[in-house]
Amino acid sequence: MSIGNKITNSRVLITGGAGFIGSNLCEALIDQQNEIVCLDNFSTGKRENIEDILKKPNFRLIDGDIRNLDTCKEACDGIDIVLHQAALGSIPRSIDDPITTNEVNISGFLNMLVASKDNKVKRFVYASSSSTYGDHPDLPKVEDTIGTPLSPYAVTKYVNELYGRVFAELYGLETIGLRYFNVFGPRQDSNGVYAAAIPRFVNTLINHESPKIFGDGTQSRDFTYIENVVQINQLAATTTNQEAFNGIYNVALGESTTVNDLFTSIRDLLSGYDSEIGKIEAEHVEKRPGEVKHSLASIDKAKQFLGYSPSYGFSEGMAKAIPWYWAILNK
Ligand SMILES: NC(=O)c1ccc[n+]([C@@H]2O[C@H](COP(=O)([O-])OP(=O)(O)OC[C@H]3O[C@@H](n4cnc5c(N)ncnc54)[C@H](O)[C@@H]3O)[C@@H](O)[C@H]2O)c1
Repeated sequence: MSIGNKITNSRVLITGGAGFIGSNLCEALIDQQNEIVCLDNFSTGKRENIEDILKKPNFRLIDGDIRNLDTCKEACDGIDIVLHQAALGSIPRSIDDPITTNEVNISGFLNMLVASKDNKVKRFVYASSSSTYGDHPDLPKVEDTIGTPLSPYAVTKYVNELYGRVFAELYGLETIGLRYFNVFGPRQDSNGVYAAAIPRFVNTLINHESPKIFGDGTQSRDFTYIENVVQINQLAATTTNQEAFNGIYNVALGESTTVNDLFTSIRDLLSGYDSEIGKIEAEHVEKRPGEVKHSLASIDKAKQFLGYSPSYGFSEGMAKAIPWYWAILNK
């Protein structure tokens, strides 16, 4: 059920609900009169991400693994909507460990599809990725035109889309795939070798160190604030537009920013708290394999079929994210 394109009065399973995107979905949906089940094995997610929600009577945590079909079936019992976020993210991680990435992102995904179908889940919305565009040179990226994947991670997300379509065709499960571009915002992990650029830059700068930029920094990405991602998940989960079902949609802002500009923007915002940070320069190191030079989405399809309209631009998102990191990392 939906009111104003928001998920409400529904039983919603959020896999990966203790992660960055999943915990933001949990937070948004918990106060919209839903029953939330969160399935997470805490491999990259954190209990602190859902600390405030854990106490709510309409929230249930299953500490379990999507690689276990029985766990997926238990989690899907009585569920109306699945928002499937659980996966091992990061291109470099998938290059270091393609086997585990495959097991979680493909076998785990398939388990979730089977469990959803068997439990007669009404809508299965899942996280795909802009990495599925692979080596295709066209910009902006349009959903129907993809190239060859450049990493094991990209392969797994492409296979997710293939399975999503097959389950829609064969079993009538309403699947919608969301190709997230570079998402950022509160609770995105800033630690570890696989941290994404924004939290990594913030963490390094706060520690008065020089962040590493891979390559010359002229590469660009379509950085998308988390609230836009929450919005489109709700739209995808509640749409009654039959033409939208079984579709794949770009989830982005539709604007690109170079990594050099990203660095400058983060440094400027942080130097408002600590003027020493304003003097730090980035260190340019060798570019990483498996990554594209430019990434920019067309969001026309999401606008047309789902009514998506990003409510946060890059600067507005940054103005929310940086104070959050400052508060957390200075605790
Ligand atoms: N953040 C981005 O910019 C971005 C871009 C494209 C796609 N995505 C996709 O969005 C989804 C969410 O990403 P995120 O950035 O929130 O990452 P995240 O690592 O913060 O969240 C993933 C969550 O899944 C959980 N998980 C991993 N393996 C699991 C397993 N076997 N069983 C149960 N839970 C498991 C983790 O513990 C974590 O809580 C992922 O599918 C990711 O591939 C993210």
